[in-house]
Amino acid sequence: MEKREGCNPGPVFVFDSGIGGLNLLYECVVRVPDARYYFISDNKNVPYGNKSAEEIYRLTRSALDGIEKYNPAALVVACNTVTAQCIGKLRSDYSFPVIGIQPAVKPAALHGGSCLVLATEATVHSNSFSSLVERYGNGGFTVVGCRELAEYIEDNIFDLPEVLPRGLLPDVKADGVVLGCTHYAYVKKQIGNYYQCPVYDGIIGTADHFAKIVGICDHFNAFLGKSDHLDINKLKVTFLYGNNVKNAVIFKRLAEGIL
Ligand code: DGL
Repeated sequence: MEKREGCNPGPVFVFDSGIGGLNLLYECVVRVPDARYYFISDNKNVPYGNKSAEEIYRLTRSALDGIEKYNPAALVVACNTVTAQCIGKLRSDYSFPVIGIQPAVKPAALHGGSCLVLATEATVHSNSFSSLVERYGNGGFTVVGCRELAEYIEDNIFDLPEVLPRGLLPDVKADGVVLGCTHYAYVKKQIGNYYQCPVYDGIIGTADHFAKIVGICDHFNAFLGKSDHLDINKLKVTFLYGNNVKNAVIFKRLAEGIL
């Protein structure tokens, strides 16, 4: 990977309303393992997906209050909802790179057939999401705002059933499903089984993008995909602001391949 000298070796902040962002945090960590990470979540106010744009921005800024002091190498917004509703504002608020995540509609569109996009209501009602669907959808996308799915996953993460309770997923036929919320990655298998088709999410693509942006720094090793020499015990990950004990346990389980 191309390197630049004199880059900012500061910490990386990863933010989500709740536990969904831990999936993306893990994929960032395996690509740039020697960076220091702070994971900030707002488990008290999750879900953001049923809130207004103003409220989402206000809660996000309040959770991120003071991060400038750390001179971050980057902020990763590991939340489709926050990205959809306020990534532009966050980019103008901060002078460091702000990386967002969007539903992976492009690979799903390339696969063809009828495609179902599941995301929060705030994501599906955003302008950025509408432009994305307009650009790649070719009229073949069914978009559903799931009111309860993220909260269900947040509350039941240690006890997720093989089959999700009725009513959480829409009853439609699909040739491909896009997971437009980082929480949904925890039930990717259940969603694939339910619709019997390929499932796409934006986590890997976003983590690769992150590795290219932060990996250019001469202080960090960076890989596209998992580093071969990853030592889970040597990772520098700190949990802030949210339910830190719960987040740390989930992160460990992700790293051990249990979740
Ligand atoms: N994990 C978040 C996302 O990717 C949102 C969940 C929520 O707060 O509603 O959209």
